[in-house]
Amino acid sequence: MEFKEKLKRYQDNVNLELEKYVRKNKCLEEILNQSMEYSLMAGGKRLRPILVLATYNLVTGNEEFSKCMPYAVAIEMVHNFSLIHDDLPAIDNDDFRHGKLTNHKKYNEATAILAGDGLLNNAYMVISEDFKNNIDIEKIKVFNEFSQAVDRMIAGEYVDTEYEGKKITIKDLEYIHANKTGSLLTLCVRMGAILGGATESELENLTKYSKNIGLAFQVKDDILSEEGNEGELGKPVGNDKEMGKCTYVSQYGLQGAKDILDTLVEDAISCLKVYGEKAAFLKGIAIYIKNRNK
Ligand code: IPE
Ligand code: IPE
Ligand code: MG
Ligand code: MG
Repeated sequence: MEFKEKLKRYQDNVNLELEKYVRKNKCLEEILNQSMEYSLMAGGKRLRPILVLATYNLVTGNEEFSKCMPYAVAIEMVHNFSLIHDDLPAIDNDDFRHGKLTNHKKYNEATAILAGDGLLNNAYMVISEDFKNNIDIEKIKVFNEFSQAVDRMIAGEYVDTEYEGKKITIKDLEYIHANKTGSLLTLCVRMGAILGGATESELENLTKYSKNIGLAFQVKDDILSEEGNEGELGKPVGNDKEMGKCTYVSQYGLQGAKDILDTLVEDAISCLKVYGEKAAFLKGIAIYIKNRNK
Protein backbone atom coordinates (compact mmCIF):
# COMPACT_ATOMS: atom_id res chain seq x y z
CA MET A 1 0.00 0.00 0.00
CA GLU A 2 1.20 3.49 -0.85
CA PHE A 3 2.39 5.70 2.04
CA LYS A 4 -0.39 8.23 1.46
CA GLU A 5 -3.11 5.59 1.50
CA LYS A 6 -1.73 4.05 4.66
CA LEU A 7 -1.50 7.44 6.34
CA LYS A 8 -5.13 8.16 5.46
CA ARG A 9 -6.19 4.75 6.80
CA TYR A 10 -4.44 5.43 10.09
CA GLN A 11 -5.94 8.95 10.26
CA ASP A 12 -9.46 7.60 9.67
CA ASN A 13 -8.94 4.93 12.29
CA VAL A 14 -7.80 7.51 14.87
CA ASN A 15 -10.63 9.92 14.03
CA LEU A 16 -13.21 7.17 14.54
CA GLU A 17 -11.72 6.36 17.95
CA LEU A 18 -11.61 10.02 19.01
CA GLU A 19 -15.28 10.44 18.03
CA LYS A 20 -16.18 7.90 20.72
CA TYR A 21 -14.98 10.29 23.42
CA VAL A 22 -16.87 13.35 22.24
CA ARG A 23 -19.59 14.28 24.75
CA LYS A 24 -22.94 15.16 23.21
CA ASN A 25 -25.19 15.38 26.28
CA LYS A 26 -27.31 18.42 26.99
CA CYS A 27 -26.17 19.87 30.31
CA LEU A 28 -24.95 23.09 31.91
CA GLU A 29 -21.44 22.58 30.55
CA GLU A 30 -22.65 21.81 27.05
CA ILE A 31 -20.68 24.72 25.53
CA LEU A 32 -17.50 23.60 27.29
CA ASN A 33 -17.99 20.13 25.79
CA GLN A 34 -18.55 21.66 22.36
CA SER A 35 -15.38 23.69 22.65
CA MET A 36 -13.38 20.55 23.50
CA GLU A 37 -14.87 18.80 20.46
CA TYR A 38 -14.25 21.91 18.32
CA SER A 39 -10.50 21.64 18.85
CA LEU A 40 -10.15 17.87 19.09
CA MET A 41 -12.02 17.26 15.82
CA ALA A 42 -10.73 20.32 13.93
CA GLY A 43 -8.67 18.35 11.41
CA GLY A 44 -5.21 17.83 12.90
CA LYS A 45 -2.80 15.49 11.12
CA ARG A 46 -2.98 12.93 13.96
CA LEU A 47 0.77 12.40 13.71
CA ARG A 48 1.20 11.52 17.39
CA PRO A 49 -1.39 8.71 17.62
CA ILE A 50 -0.25 7.43 14.22
CA LEU A 51 3.30 7.14 15.57
CA VAL A 52 2.01 5.04 18.47
CA LEU A 53 0.12 2.68 16.16
CA ALA A 54 2.79 2.48 13.46
CA THR A 55 5.57 1.72 15.94
CA TYR A 56 3.42 -0.92 17.64
CA ASN A 57 2.81 -2.41 14.18
CA LEU A 58 6.52 -2.39 13.37
CA VAL A 59 7.44 -4.19 16.58
CA THR A 60 4.60 -6.74 16.62
CA GLY A 61 3.54 -7.07 12.98
CA ASN A 62 0.05 -6.74 14.44
CA GLU A 63 -2.75 -4.72 12.79
CA GLU A 64 -5.01 -5.13 15.80
CA PHE A 65 -4.46 -2.03 17.91
CA SER A 66 -6.73 -2.43 20.94
CA LYS A 67 -3.77 -2.63 23.34
CA CYS A 68 -2.24 0.69 22.29
CA MET A 69 -5.30 2.62 21.08
CA PRO A 70 -6.21 4.20 24.47
CA TYR A 71 -2.68 5.65 24.65
CA ALA A 72 -2.90 6.91 21.05
CA VAL A 73 -6.20 8.63 21.85
CA ALA A 74 -4.88 10.04 25.13
CA ILE A 75 -1.82 11.62 23.53
CA GLU A 76 -3.93 13.33 20.87
CA MET A 77 -6.06 14.81 23.67
CA VAL A 78 -2.95 16.14 25.40
CA HIS A 79 -1.68 17.52 22.09
CA ASN A 80 -4.92 19.42 21.52
CA PHE A 81 -4.81 20.75 25.08
CA SER A 82 -1.33 22.06 24.31
CA LEU A 83 -2.50 23.73 21.10
CA ILE A 84 -5.48 25.46 22.73
CA HIS A 85 -3.27 26.91 25.46
CA ASP A 86 -0.41 27.68 23.05
CA ASP A 87 -2.77 29.90 21.02
CA LEU A 88 -4.04 31.89 24.03
CA PRO A 89 -3.29 35.64 24.20
CA ALA A 90 -0.91 35.05 27.12
CA ILE A 91 1.19 32.64 25.08
CA ASP A 92 1.24 32.97 21.25
CA ASN A 93 -1.89 35.07 20.81
CA ASP A 94 -2.97 33.42 17.57
CA ASP A 95 -6.38 33.76 15.96
CA PHE A 96 -6.36 30.83 13.55
CA ARG A 97 -5.57 27.13 13.70
CA HIS A 98 -6.58 24.38 11.26
CA GLY A 99 -8.06 27.12 9.09
CA LYS A 100 -10.59 27.98 11.80
CA LEU A 101 -10.75 30.46 14.65
CA THR A 102 -8.68 29.41 17.63
CA ASN A 103 -10.63 28.10 20.61
CA HIS A 104 -10.53 31.35 22.62
CA LYS A 105 -11.63 33.35 19.56
CA LYS A 106 -14.50 30.99 18.79
CA TYR A 107 -15.63 30.73 22.44
CA ASN A 108 -13.82 32.89 25.00
CA GLU A 109 -10.62 32.75 27.02
CA ALA A 110 -12.18 31.19 30.11
CA THR A 111 -13.79 28.45 28.04
CA ALA A 112 -10.56 27.82 26.11
CA ILE A 113 -8.51 27.49 29.30
CA LEU A 114 -11.03 25.06 30.75
CA ALA A 115 -11.37 23.14 27.47
CA GLY A 116 -7.60 22.62 27.55
CA ASP A 117 -7.75 21.50 31.18
CA GLY A 118 -10.62 19.20 30.28
CA LEU A 119 -8.73 17.55 27.42
CA LEU A 120 -5.65 17.06 29.56
CA ASN A 121 -7.66 15.37 32.27
CA ASN A 122 -9.67 13.37 29.75
CA ALA A 123 -6.41 11.85 28.57
CA TYR A 124 -5.74 10.56 32.07
CA MET A 125 -9.34 9.34 32.34
CA VAL A 126 -8.90 7.28 29.16
CA ILE A 127 -5.73 5.71 30.54
CA SER A 128 -7.17 5.01 33.98
CA GLU A 129 -10.22 3.40 32.34
CA ASP A 130 -7.87 1.11 30.42
CA PHE A 131 -6.05 0.26 33.66
CA LYS A 132 -9.39 -0.68 35.23
CA ASN A 133 -10.07 -3.14 32.43
CA ASN A 134 -6.68 -4.69 31.94
CA ILE A 135 -3.47 -3.61 33.61
CA ASP A 136 0.06 -4.94 33.11
CA ILE A 137 3.60 -3.81 33.86
CA GLU A 138 4.18 -2.38 30.35
CA LYS A 139 1.16 -0.10 30.75
CA ILE A 140 2.43 1.20 34.10
CA LYS A 141 5.79 1.96 32.49
CA VAL A 142 4.02 3.73 29.64
CA PHE A 143 1.87 5.73 32.05
CA ASN A 144 4.96 6.86 33.93
CA GLU A 145 6.63 8.02 30.70
CA PHE A 146 3.38 9.66 29.57
CA SER A 147 3.15 11.87 32.64
CA GLN A 148 6.84 12.77 32.40
CA ALA A 149 6.59 13.72 28.71
CA VAL A 150 3.59 15.98 29.41
CA ASP A 151 5.62 17.61 32.18
CA ARG A 152 8.46 18.28 29.68
CA MET A 153 6.08 19.66 27.04
CA ILE A 154 4.72 22.16 29.57
CA ALA A 155 8.26 23.07 30.64
CA GLY A 156 9.24 23.66 27.00
CA GLU A 157 6.23 25.89 26.46
CA TYR A 158 7.19 27.88 29.55
CA VAL A 159 10.79 28.42 28.43
CA ASP A 160 9.65 29.26 24.88
CA THR A 161 7.32 31.93 26.28
CA GLU A 162 9.77 33.24 28.85
CA TYR A 163 12.58 33.72 26.31
CA GLU A 164 10.48 35.53 23.71
CA GLY A 165 12.41 38.50 22.34
CA LYS A 166 15.54 37.56 24.29
CA LYS A 167 18.87 36.27 23.01
CA ILE A 168 19.47 32.62 23.82
CA THR A 169 22.17 30.06 23.13
CA ILE A 170 21.81 27.26 20.59
CA LYS A 171 21.80 24.85 23.52
CA ASP A 172 18.81 26.61 25.06
CA LEU A 173 16.99 26.61 21.73
CA GLU A 174 17.55 22.87 21.43
CA TYR A 175 16.22 22.52 24.98
CA ILE A 176 13.03 24.38 24.08
CA HIS A 177 12.40 22.32 20.95
CA ALA A 178 13.28 18.98 22.52
CA ASN A 179 10.87 19.67 25.36
CA LYS A 180 7.92 21.53 23.85
CA THR A 181 7.65 19.29 20.78
CA GLY A 182 10.18 16.46 20.95
CA SER A 183 9.02 15.05 24.26
CA LEU A 184 5.54 14.06 23.01
CA LEU A 185 6.79 12.67 19.70
CA THR A 186 9.42 10.56 21.44
CA LEU A 187 6.81 9.39 23.92
CA CYS A 188 4.57 8.20 21.07
CA VAL A 189 7.26 6.04 19.50
CA ARG A 190 8.32 4.66 22.88
CA MET A 191 4.71 3.88 23.88
CA GLY A 192 4.15 1.91 20.68
CA ALA A 193 7.44 0.08 21.18
CA ILE A 194 6.98 -0.69 24.88
CA LEU A 195 3.37 -1.85 24.48
CA GLY A 196 4.51 -3.99 21.57
CA GLY A 197 7.13 -5.68 23.75
CA ALA A 198 10.24 -4.24 22.07
CA THR A 199 13.63 -5.39 23.33
CA GLU A 200 15.93 -2.88 25.08
CA SER A 201 18.12 -2.44 22.01
CA GLU A 202 15.07 -1.99 19.76
CA LEU A 203 13.73 0.60 22.16
CA GLU A 204 17.03 2.45 22.18
CA ASN A 205 17.20 2.50 18.40
CA LEU A 206 13.59 3.62 17.96
CA THR A 207 14.11 6.32 20.59
CA LYS A 208 16.98 7.66 18.50
CA TYR A 209 14.66 7.71 15.47
CA SER A 210 12.01 9.55 17.50
CA LYS A 211 14.44 12.19 18.77
CA ASN A 212 15.51 12.95 15.22
CA ILE A 213 11.96 13.23 13.89
CA GLY A 214 10.90 15.15 17.01
CA LEU A 215 13.45 17.88 16.41
CA ALA A 216 12.92 17.72 12.63
CA PHE A 217 9.21 18.31 13.18
CA GLN A 218 9.77 21.54 15.12
CA VAL A 219 12.51 22.76 12.76
CA LYS A 220 10.02 22.31 9.91
CA ASP A 221 7.40 24.15 11.99
CA ASP A 222 9.87 27.04 12.32
CA ILE A 223 10.49 26.98 8.54
CA LEU A 224 6.75 26.96 7.80
CA SER A 225 6.23 29.89 10.15
CA GLU A 226 8.70 31.76 7.93
CA GLU A 227 7.74 30.69 4.42
CA GLY A 228 4.61 28.53 4.62
CA ASN A 229 1.34 29.22 2.89
CA GLU A 230 -1.22 30.47 5.39
CA GLY A 231 -4.16 28.97 3.48
CA GLU A 232 -2.61 25.53 3.35
CA LEU A 233 -1.14 25.71 6.84
CA GLY A 234 -4.39 26.85 8.44
CA LYS A 235 -2.45 28.96 10.95
CA PRO A 236 -0.59 32.26 10.71
CA VAL A 237 2.74 32.70 8.96
CA GLY A 238 5.30 35.25 10.18
CA ASN A 239 4.07 35.11 13.76
CA ASP A 240 7.31 33.67 15.20
CA LYS A 241 9.24 36.64 13.85
CA GLU A 242 6.59 39.09 15.02
CA MET A 243 6.70 37.70 18.56
CA GLY A 244 10.51 37.61 18.63
CA LYS A 245 10.49 33.82 19.07
CA CYS A 246 13.75 31.93 19.23
CA THR A 247 13.58 29.45 16.37
CA TYR A 248 15.92 27.49 14.09
CA VAL A 249 15.24 30.11 11.41
CA SER A 250 16.12 33.03 13.71
CA GLN A 251 19.30 31.23 14.80
CA TYR A 252 20.54 29.61 11.58
CA GLY A 253 18.71 31.48 8.80
CA LEU A 254 16.21 29.80 6.46
CA GLN A 255 18.77 27.79 4.47
CA GLY A 256 20.65 26.80 7.62
CA ALA A 257 17.42 25.48 9.15
CA LYS A 258 16.66 23.53 5.96
CA ASP A 259 20.11 21.92 5.99
CA ILE A 260 19.65 20.89 9.62
CA LEU A 261 16.22 19.45 8.74
CA ASP A 262 17.76 17.34 5.95
CA THR A 263 20.39 15.91 8.28
CA LEU A 264 17.88 15.12 11.03
CA VAL A 265 15.62 13.26 8.61
CA GLU A 266 18.57 11.30 7.14
CA ASP A 267 19.68 10.36 10.66
CA ALA A 268 16.14 9.28 11.55
CA ILE A 269 15.93 7.07 8.47
CA SER A 270 19.31 5.47 9.16
CA CYS A 271 17.97 4.21 12.54
CA LEU A 272 15.39 2.16 10.63
CA LYS A 273 17.83 0.29 8.38
CA VAL A 274 17.83 -2.82 10.57
CA TYR A 275 14.12 -3.29 9.88
CA GLY A 276 14.35 -3.18 6.09
CA GLU A 277 11.02 -2.96 4.23
CA LYS A 278 9.06 -3.49 7.46
CA ALA A 279 9.90 0.10 8.46
CA ALA A 280 8.78 1.63 5.15
CA PHE A 281 5.92 3.52 6.81
CA LEU A 282 8.03 5.04 9.61
CA LYS A 283 10.58 6.02 6.96
CA GLY A 284 7.69 7.61 5.05
CA ILE A 285 6.73 9.55 8.19
CA ALA A 286 10.24 11.03 8.42
CA ILE A 287 10.06 12.14 4.77
CA TYR A 288 6.52 13.44 5.29
CA ILE A 289 7.75 15.60 8.20
CA LYS A 290 10.39 17.12 5.95
CA ASN A 291 8.10 17.76 2.97
CA ARG A 292 4.86 18.71 4.71
CA ASN A 293 3.20 22.02 3.94
CA LYS A 294 0.76 21.88 6.84
C1 IPE B 1 1.71 21.73 15.91
O1 IPE B 1 1.67 20.35 15.85
C2 IPE B 1 2.37 22.17 17.15
C3 IPE B 1 3.75 21.74 17.28
C4 IPE B 1 4.13 20.98 18.23
C5 IPE B 1 4.75 22.26 16.36
P1 IPE B 1 0.99 19.59 14.62
O2 IPE B 1 1.37 20.26 13.34
O3 IPE B 1 1.28 18.14 14.73
O4 IPE B 1 -0.55 19.82 14.88
P2 IPE B 1 -1.84 19.30 14.14
O5 IPE B 1 -1.48 18.37 13.02
O6 IPE B 1 -2.49 20.54 13.65
O7 IPE B 1 -2.62 18.60 15.19
C1 IPE C 1 3.71 24.59 19.82
O1 IPE C 1 4.79 25.26 19.32
C2 IPE C 1 4.19 23.54 20.78
C3 IPE C 1 3.13 23.07 21.67
C4 IPE C 1 1.87 23.40 21.55
C5 IPE C 1 3.52 22.20 22.75
P1 IPE C 1 4.54 26.48 18.33
O2 IPE C 1 3.86 27.59 19.02
O3 IPE C 1 5.84 26.74 17.69
O4 IPE C 1 3.56 25.77 17.26
P2 IPE C 1 2.44 26.41 16.36
O5 IPE C 1 3.18 27.00 15.23
O6 IPE C 1 1.66 27.39 17.16
O7 IPE C 1 1.62 25.23 15.91
MG1 MG D 1 4.18 28.46 20.86
MG1 MG E 1 2.12 28.65 18.59
